[in-house]
Amino acid sequence: MSVPILTLDGPSGSGKGTIGRAVARHAGWHLLDSGALYRLVALAGRKRGLGQSDVQGHAALAVSMDVRFAAEGEAERVLLDGREVTGEIRTEEAGQGASRVAAWPEVRAALLARQRAFAEPPGLVADGRDMGTVVFPEAALKVFLTASAAERALRRYNQLKEKGSGASLSALSREIAERDARDSSRAVAPLVPASDAEVIDSTGLAVAEVVDRVIELGRRRTLWA
Ligand code: DC
Repeated sequence: MSVPILTLDGPSGSGKGTIGRAVARHAGWHLLDSGALYRLVALAGRKRGLGQSDVQGHAALAVSMDVRFAAEGEAERVLLDGREVTGEIRTEEAGQGASRVAAWPEVRAALLARQRAFAEPPGLVADGRDMGTVVFPEAALKVFLTASAAERALRRYNQLKEKGSGASLSALSREIAERDARDSSRAVAPLVPASDAEVIDSTGLAVAEVVDRVIELGRRRTLWA
Protein backbone atom coordinates (compact mmCIF):
# COMPACT_ATOMS: atom_id res chain seq x y z
CA MET A 1 0.00 0.00 0.00
CA SER A 2 1.27 3.46 -0.77
CA VAL A 3 2.29 5.77 2.07
CA PRO A 4 -0.29 8.51 2.84
CA ILE A 5 1.07 12.02 2.29
CA LEU A 6 -0.08 15.46 3.37
CA THR A 7 1.52 18.27 1.38
CA LEU A 8 1.81 21.73 2.88
CA ASP A 9 2.86 24.41 0.39
CA GLY A 10 2.95 28.18 0.64
CA PRO A 11 5.11 31.29 0.60
CA SER A 12 7.88 32.21 3.07
CA GLY A 13 6.58 32.92 6.55
CA SER A 14 3.14 31.42 5.99
CA GLY A 15 3.69 29.11 8.98
CA LYS A 16 4.24 25.85 7.10
CA GLY A 17 7.06 24.75 9.39
CA THR A 18 5.14 25.28 12.62
CA ILE A 19 1.90 23.83 11.28
CA GLY A 20 3.68 20.89 9.62
CA ARG A 21 5.49 19.95 12.84
CA ALA A 22 2.27 20.09 14.87
CA VAL A 23 0.26 18.02 12.37
CA ALA A 24 3.07 15.46 11.99
CA ARG A 25 3.16 15.10 15.77
CA HIS A 26 -0.63 14.65 15.90
CA ALA A 27 -0.55 11.97 13.21
CA GLY A 28 2.71 10.34 14.29
CA TRP A 29 3.99 10.84 10.72
CA HIS A 30 7.42 11.72 9.35
CA LEU A 31 8.20 15.28 8.33
CA LEU A 32 10.01 16.60 5.26
CA ASP A 33 11.22 20.21 5.43
CA SER A 34 12.09 20.54 1.74
CA GLY A 35 13.15 24.18 2.13
CA ALA A 36 15.98 22.96 4.39
CA LEU A 37 17.30 20.87 1.48
CA TYR A 38 17.47 23.93 -0.81
CA ARG A 39 19.12 25.90 2.00
CA LEU A 40 21.64 23.06 2.42
CA VAL A 41 22.49 22.97 -1.29
CA ALA A 42 23.23 26.71 -1.24
CA LEU A 43 25.29 26.39 1.94
CA ALA A 44 27.19 23.34 0.71
CA GLY A 45 28.00 25.27 -2.50
CA ARG A 46 29.31 28.21 -0.51
CA LYS A 47 31.43 25.96 1.71
CA ARG A 48 32.95 24.28 -1.34
CA GLY A 49 33.65 27.64 -2.92
CA LEU A 50 31.36 27.02 -5.93
CA GLY A 51 30.67 30.00 -8.17
CA GLN A 52 27.25 31.64 -7.72
CA SER A 53 26.24 30.56 -11.21
CA ASP A 54 27.69 27.04 -11.14
CA VAL A 55 24.44 25.18 -11.81
CA GLN A 56 25.97 21.75 -12.48
CA GLY A 57 28.18 21.97 -9.39
CA HIS A 58 25.18 22.73 -7.18
CA ALA A 59 23.09 19.98 -8.82
CA ALA A 60 25.88 17.47 -8.15
CA LEU A 61 26.01 18.58 -4.50
CA ALA A 62 22.22 18.15 -4.23
CA VAL A 63 22.76 14.45 -4.93
CA SER A 64 26.02 13.88 -3.06
CA MET A 65 25.81 16.08 0.04
CA ASP A 66 25.64 14.17 3.30
CA VAL A 67 22.61 15.45 5.22
CA ARG A 68 21.19 14.27 8.48
CA PHE A 69 18.06 15.51 10.27
CA ALA A 70 18.29 14.52 13.92
CA ALA A 71 15.29 15.06 16.19
CA GLU A 72 16.28 15.88 19.74
CA GLY A 73 13.14 16.21 21.85
CA GLU A 74 11.23 19.15 20.40
CA ALA A 75 14.29 20.54 18.65
CA GLU A 76 15.51 19.44 15.25
CA ARG A 77 19.21 19.45 14.41
CA VAL A 78 20.52 19.55 10.86
CA LEU A 79 23.96 18.17 9.99
CA LEU A 80 25.83 18.75 6.74
CA ASP A 81 28.82 16.49 6.16
CA GLY A 82 28.71 15.65 9.87
CA ARG A 83 28.82 19.29 11.01
CA GLU A 84 25.94 21.02 12.75
CA VAL A 85 24.43 23.77 10.57
CA THR A 86 21.04 24.09 12.32
CA GLY A 87 21.36 27.84 12.95
CA GLU A 88 23.37 28.61 9.85
CA ILE A 89 20.70 27.43 7.40
CA ARG A 90 17.96 29.51 9.08
CA THR A 91 19.39 32.96 8.42
CA GLU A 92 17.77 35.29 5.87
CA GLU A 93 20.99 35.09 3.84
CA ALA A 94 20.65 31.29 3.65
CA GLY A 95 17.02 31.75 2.58
CA GLN A 96 18.04 34.04 -0.25
CA GLY A 97 20.74 31.57 -1.33
CA ALA A 98 18.17 28.76 -1.29
CA SER A 99 15.71 30.74 -3.38
CA ARG A 100 18.47 31.36 -5.96
CA VAL A 101 19.53 27.70 -6.36
CA ALA A 102 15.86 26.64 -6.23
CA ALA A 103 15.22 28.48 -9.50
CA TRP A 104 17.54 26.06 -11.36
CA PRO A 105 15.68 23.07 -12.87
CA GLU A 106 18.84 20.92 -12.58
CA VAL A 107 18.95 21.40 -8.80
CA ARG A 108 15.20 20.74 -8.45
CA ALA A 109 15.51 17.52 -10.47
CA ALA A 110 18.55 16.44 -8.45
CA LEU A 111 16.58 16.79 -5.20
CA LEU A 112 13.52 14.82 -6.32
CA ALA A 113 14.67 11.33 -5.31
CA ARG A 114 16.02 12.59 -1.98
CA GLN A 115 12.65 14.18 -1.17
CA ARG A 116 10.57 11.18 -2.26
CA ALA A 117 12.68 8.90 -0.06
CA PHE A 118 11.07 10.60 2.97
CA ALA A 119 7.75 8.89 2.16
CA GLU A 120 7.94 6.09 4.71
CA PRO A 121 5.15 4.43 6.73
CA PRO A 122 3.06 5.37 8.57
CA GLY A 123 2.89 8.65 6.59
CA LEU A 124 4.58 11.90 5.61
CA VAL A 125 3.88 15.58 6.08
CA ALA A 126 5.86 17.38 3.35
CA ASP A 127 6.35 21.14 3.57
CA GLY A 128 7.60 23.35 0.74
CA ARG A 129 6.55 25.14 -2.43
CA ASP A 130 5.93 22.34 -4.94
CA MET A 131 5.12 19.36 -2.72
CA GLY A 132 1.55 19.02 -4.02
CA THR A 133 2.25 20.08 -7.60
CA VAL A 134 5.51 18.28 -8.49
CA VAL A 135 7.09 16.11 -5.81
CA PHE A 136 4.00 14.31 -4.45
CA PRO A 137 1.19 14.90 -6.98
CA GLU A 138 -0.62 11.79 -5.65
CA ALA A 139 -0.80 13.14 -2.07
CA ALA A 140 -3.96 12.20 -0.14
CA LEU A 141 -4.39 15.78 1.14
CA LYS A 142 -2.90 19.00 -0.23
CA VAL A 143 -2.99 22.20 1.76
CA PHE A 144 -1.84 25.58 0.46
CA LEU A 145 -1.13 27.91 3.35
CA THR A 146 -1.00 31.62 2.80
CA ALA A 147 -1.06 34.89 4.79
CA SER A 148 -0.72 38.55 3.89
CA ALA A 149 2.85 39.71 3.17
CA ALA A 150 2.67 42.18 6.07
CA GLU A 151 1.72 39.46 8.54
CA ARG A 152 4.40 37.10 7.24
CA ALA A 153 7.08 39.77 7.62
CA LEU A 154 5.89 40.47 11.16
CA ARG A 155 5.98 36.77 12.09
CA ARG A 156 9.53 36.43 10.75
CA TYR A 157 10.52 39.59 12.65
CA ASN A 158 9.16 38.21 15.94
CA GLN A 159 10.81 34.83 15.30
CA LEU A 160 14.21 36.47 14.76
CA LYS A 161 13.76 38.74 17.78
CA GLU A 162 12.98 35.70 19.95
CA LYS A 163 16.23 34.14 18.81
CA GLY A 164 18.04 37.31 19.79
CA SER A 165 18.99 38.29 16.23
CA GLY A 166 18.41 41.87 15.27
CA ALA A 167 16.26 42.53 12.21
CA SER A 168 14.51 45.43 10.62
CA LEU A 169 10.87 44.97 9.76
CA SER A 170 11.13 47.04 6.60
CA ALA A 171 14.17 45.05 5.38
CA LEU A 172 12.34 41.79 6.12
CA SER A 173 9.24 42.96 4.23
CA ARG A 174 11.41 43.83 1.26
CA GLU A 175 13.21 40.46 1.36
CA ILE A 176 9.94 38.54 1.64
CA ALA A 177 8.49 40.42 -1.33
CA GLU A 178 11.64 39.70 -3.38
CA ARG A 179 11.61 36.02 -2.47
CA ASP A 180 7.84 35.73 -3.21
CA ALA A 181 8.38 37.28 -6.61
CA ARG A 182 11.27 34.96 -7.49
CA ASP A 183 9.58 31.80 -6.13
CA SER A 184 6.29 32.56 -7.92
CA SER A 185 7.69 33.65 -11.26
CA ARG A 186 10.34 30.98 -11.91
CA ALA A 187 9.74 28.79 -14.95
CA VAL A 188 10.02 25.45 -13.14
CA ALA A 189 7.77 24.44 -10.23
CA PRO A 190 6.67 27.98 -9.36
CA LEU A 191 4.85 28.64 -6.11
CA VAL A 192 1.20 28.04 -7.03
CA PRO A 193 -1.52 26.03 -5.27
CA ALA A 194 -2.22 22.60 -6.79
CA SER A 195 -5.61 22.61 -8.52
CA ASP A 196 -6.86 20.15 -5.89
CA ALA A 197 -5.37 21.96 -2.87
CA GLU A 198 -7.32 23.27 0.11
CA VAL A 199 -6.29 26.90 0.52
CA ILE A 200 -6.06 28.25 4.08
CA ASP A 201 -5.43 31.96 4.63
CA SER A 202 -3.92 32.16 8.11
CA THR A 203 -3.91 35.97 8.34
CA GLY A 204 -5.31 36.80 11.77
CA LEU A 205 -5.56 33.12 12.81
CA ALA A 206 -3.71 31.63 15.77
CA VAL A 207 -1.39 28.68 15.11
CA ALA A 208 -3.74 26.33 16.99
CA GLU A 209 -6.68 27.34 14.78
CA VAL A 210 -4.76 26.54 11.60
CA VAL A 211 -3.53 23.23 13.04
CA ASP A 212 -7.12 22.33 13.97
CA ARG A 213 -8.33 23.09 10.44
CA VAL A 214 -5.67 20.90 8.85
CA ILE A 215 -6.30 18.06 11.33
CA GLU A 216 -10.03 18.30 10.60
CA LEU A 217 -9.38 18.12 6.82
CA GLY A 218 -7.29 14.99 7.37
CA ARG A 219 -9.94 13.46 9.60
CA ARG A 220 -12.59 13.98 6.92
CA ARG A 221 -10.37 12.05 4.52
CA THR A 222 -9.82 9.37 7.17
CA LEU A 223 -6.06 9.96 7.23
CA TRP A 224 -6.14 9.82 11.02
CA ALA A 225 -8.59 9.67 13.92
O1 DC B 1 10.70 27.18 3.14
P1 DC B 1 12.03 27.86 3.16
O2 DC B 1 11.95 29.33 3.44
O3 DC B 1 13.02 27.17 4.05
O4 DC B 1 12.60 27.73 1.65
C1 DC B 1 13.79 28.36 1.24
C2 DC B 1 13.76 28.61 -0.26
O5 DC B 1 13.80 27.37 -0.96
C3 DC B 1 12.51 29.32 -0.77
O6 DC B 1 12.76 30.69 -1.02
C4 DC B 1 12.16 28.64 -2.06
C5 DC B 1 12.91 27.36 -2.06
N1 DC B 1 12.07 26.17 -1.99
C6 DC B 1 11.59 25.68 -3.18
O7 DC B 1 11.81 26.26 -4.24
N2 DC B 1 10.86 24.52 -3.19
C7 DC B 1 10.59 23.87 -2.06
N3 DC B 1 9.88 22.75 -2.08
C8 DC B 1 11.04 24.40 -0.81
C9 DC B 1 11.77 25.56 -0.82
